[in-house]
Amino acid sequence: MSLIPKSNVPLFLLLLIFILPHIGIAEESSLVEVLRNHGLPAGLFPQSVKSFKLDQMGHLEVHLDHPCLAQYETTVFFNTVVKANLSFRQLKVLDGMSREELFLWLPVKDIFVLDPSSGVILIDIGYALKYLAFSHFDEPPVCRSPNGLAFLMGGRKGIGFSDQ
Ligand SMILES: *[C@@H]1O[C@H](CO)[C@@H](O)[C@H](O)[C@H]1NC(C)=O
Repeated sequence: MSLIPKSNVPLFLLLLIFILPHIGIAEESSLVEVLRNHGLPAGLFPQSVKSFKLDQMGHLEVHLDHPCLAQYETTVFFNTVVKANLSFRQLKVLDGMSREELFLWLPVKDIFVLDPSSGVILIDIGYALKYLAFSHFDEPPVCRSPNGLAFLMGGRKGIGFSDQ
């Protein structure tokens, strides 16, 4: 009888080794699913996301093919790499995302949902909090190459004032 549990041990280990990595959330999910699982709208990042990394601490790194501009209720600039801390209903942006507000490019610092029943998402751009309807972020938007802006951005480490 005691042989049965013993012989099961290697099988159990094999299951752990080969199956567990495939259950990992970041491994199998798309960024859209990851955002949804964190209570955030699917369209926070554009369609041109090439890959992303999310570790257990919630450090999120999103890679795009190239810097680009996407149209929401205003224009949003995404750098090739966007870094953020992701937690439930909150994306603290560390680098790589700016919004055009009154002809200025302001780095996005924080995106969060306080009350999901309100249907409103809050975006902190430093000097102001924007209250925007979830519906603006339902779908990942198309992201177009900034053309002439690329030259400017290359020399200035992205649009916006990332040092502030
Ligand atoms: C992001 O996470 C790191 C480590 O978990 C932390 O040190 C840092 O302060 C966080 N950044 C923000 C803006 O919350």
